[in-house]
Amino acid sequence: MVFRIRKLRVRGDSQIADVFARFERQKEAFLADNAAVFEEIEATIKHTNDLGKLPLWEEYKNVENYGRVIDDNPKRRMQDVRTKAEFCQFYTWLVSQMKPNAVLEFGAAFGASGMYWLAGLNICNRGKMYSFEPNEIWNSIAQSNFDTVSDRHVLTLGTFEDNIGLITDKVNIALIDAIHTRDFVVKQFELVRSVADKGALVLFDDINFSDDMKACWSEISQSDEFASVWQLSSRVGIVELP
Ligand SMILES: C[S@@+](CC[C@H](N)C(=O)[O-])C[C@H]1O[C@@H](n2cnc3c(N)ncnc32)[C@H](O)[C@@H]1O
Repeated sequence: MVFRIRKLRVRGDSQIADVFARFERQKEAFLADNAAVFEEIEATIKHTNDLGKLPLWEEYKNVENYGRVIDDNPKRRMQDVRTKAEFCQFYTWLVSQMKPNAVLEFGAAFGASGMYWLAGLNICNRGKMYSFEPNEIWNSIAQSNFDTVSDRHVLTLGTFEDNIGLITDKVNIALIDAIHTRDFVVKQFELVRSVADKGALVLFDDINFSDDMKACWSEISQSDEFASVWQLSSRVGIVELP
């Protein structure tokens, strides 16, 4: 798959359109400049993946409209749930361009996307990442993976919804990457908006995960209240808040 930023809609008040327009021009040099950092993160991921399959958060067994079968003893490797490297590298680049005060992501899982957000904060030498993960085993692995990159993070053991009060900065970039169903995502998006700054970007992972998620993204992306709407290939939806 070729990674591509797809423009769905851009209004005149968009601040991010010019930033995204720079990506293709800057990509090669950015990847070369950060090759060592990305290699180190991927080595950490390989090490975690080698731990094998570890139990999924038990709440997955109770999710309605999940769109995938969850068996009686579900377990996953890091590789099964992580954000792919090309998307992660884009996240680092995005942070390096936006220089956010705060990045929010949930869930952390084993920490792949989080390590790449942190690599971006290292480049800016500013900002903080808030991350949430209710799976005790995965959370502690994510914690030590994040620490290999930076201490600019607050990782909470628990759900985003139950712990939103711990976010004490206005969020400039948010990634919703938890349970991929409309019921969860629509409510989480409303909560994200309550802590987001003007002009924040909200990213929705796995917009084609199921028919239910396709409908969810279609509904969100067709609203004309956003300054701009984008997709990263067919995987991630992005809205720019007004
Ligand atoms: C697809 S994985 C996230 C992958 C991760 N962002 C990465 O790139 O490695 C989804 C994670 O969300 C967690 N999760 C599910 N519901 C959550 C919630 N309400 N708040 C925070 N995390 C949640 C799950 O336990 C799981 O670890």
